[in-house]
Amino acid sequence: MAKTQVVIVGAGPSGLMLSQLLHRHGIDSVVLERQTREYVEARIRAGLLEWGTVELLDEAGVGERMHREGLVHDGFSLAFDGRIHRIDLKGLAGKHVLVYGQTEIQKDLADAAGARVVWEAKEVAIHDFDSARPRVSYLKDGVRHELECEFVAGCDGYHGVARASVPKERITTHERIYPFGWLGILADVPPVDHELIYANHARGFALCSMRSTKRSRYYIQCPLEDKVEDWSDQRFWDELRARLPADYANRMVTGPSIEKSIAPLRSFVAEPMRFGRLFLVGDAAHIVPPTGAKGLNLAAADVRVLYRAIVEYFRGGSTALLDEYSPRALARVWKATRFSWWFTTLMHKFGDEAFAYKLQVAELDYLSDSEAASKAVAENYVGLDFDDDHAPRARRAA
Ligand code: FAD
Ligand code: DHB
Repeated sequence: MAKTQVVIVGAGPSGLMLSQLLHRHGIDSVVLERQTREYVEARIRAGLLEWGTVELLDEAGVGERMHREGLVHDGFSLAFDGRIHRIDLKGLAGKHVLVYGQTEIQKDLADAAGARVVWEAKEVAIHDFDSARPRVSYLKDGVRHELECEFVAGCDGYHGVARASVPKERITTHERIYPFGWLGILADVPPVDHELIYANHARGFALCSMRSTKRSRYYIQCPLEDKVEDWSDQRFWDELRARLPADYANRMVTGPSIEKSIAPLRSFVAEPMRFGRLFLVGDAAHIVPPTGAKGLNLAAADVRVLYRAIVEYFRGGSTALLDEYSPRALARVWKATRFSWWFTTLMHKFGDEAFAYKLQVAELDYLSDSEAASKAVAENYVGLDFDDDHAPRARRAA
């Protein structure tokens, strides 16, 4: 039977990052991905990286194009009640963030030397993850293969096979579904501002983001029942403008959309994130609503903890860091879950109740006046420090 040290299920950002980081430390892995490379690279998703994610991609040796093409942002704005409040990330939290699309990260990682990916691997099944020798079987071009390994990383997203392989009684899940979706478009028009704008409006939430100085990514809150076909480009632009302060609405450049999609919003956490020799990573273990852009960054944070633990194990046989994976990852996951829930609650229209809207405006007003409150937002937005940032060097694996 073929062998590898780590089988990674899923070639999204978490699977490819893990494989590349392990490769840099001489650890062999095979990534099994259900879809084609082209399909995975075409999925328009996240676009905002915490600096910790940027540093992890540097550590993986794939940061060169990211630094060349990514846009450093030192702040973002909150628009509400006809006003604008800028959160000065650099001044308040001492860090900035980077605009660089998930599609580009996918390409950089798939091009890197460490990625031994089996694309279009069907019927992936994980066996004996409670034993010392787990196996993973799959079908490629109609032929069944089986890989023996020491660890399995379930990097296969919310609908993947890894979490589904765990007996129900061993896993606890927490979920909140939000009563609206995000309609997003991508368009080759210059962004309305050089930084992001999150807008709370009586008509609903809007977000002005970007992928480059020439490509805009805009979102508006929409009813869950809406279909993409209900939204012509013209209707989208009109609604977006209606939710922005007049000066932004007036100077917004519009154009044909090159992508348009509706995403539901949910919070979801599965606990624990480790079952014997199977580790859940990224969206396989947790989903956050997109407000605040934590999804991809959390996936990267999981990878950071897990790859160091695996490296330590193969270096000296110690399972100490592997044993810490689930509690350490979950501590961060819950903080990001809280922030994403809070930011979603602050910025979206939940119903017609005036009381709820007045509270939102009061909180945004308070944020504008209080440096302490703005600092709390900034710290969460740029990404909280890692729990080992201040630990003695000896505790670190890498
Ligand atoms: P994924 O990217 O989901 O990758 C999992 C991979 O596993 C996929 O390639 C999948 O094909 C593969 N797979 C699944 N099942 C199997 C199987 N049985 N066998 C083999 N392979 C399998 N985050 C943000 O921060 N900002 C955003 O604006 C944003 N927008 C999003 C929009 C959408 C529509 C979605 C779905 C997510 C969005 N996210 C966003 C979240 C962010 O994209 C994810 O958090 C991130 O992709 C997680 O990476 P991952 O590698 O853990 O999972
Ligand atoms: C993007 C998405 C977000 O949810 C966010 O908070 C910031 C940026 C984006 O897709 O660009």
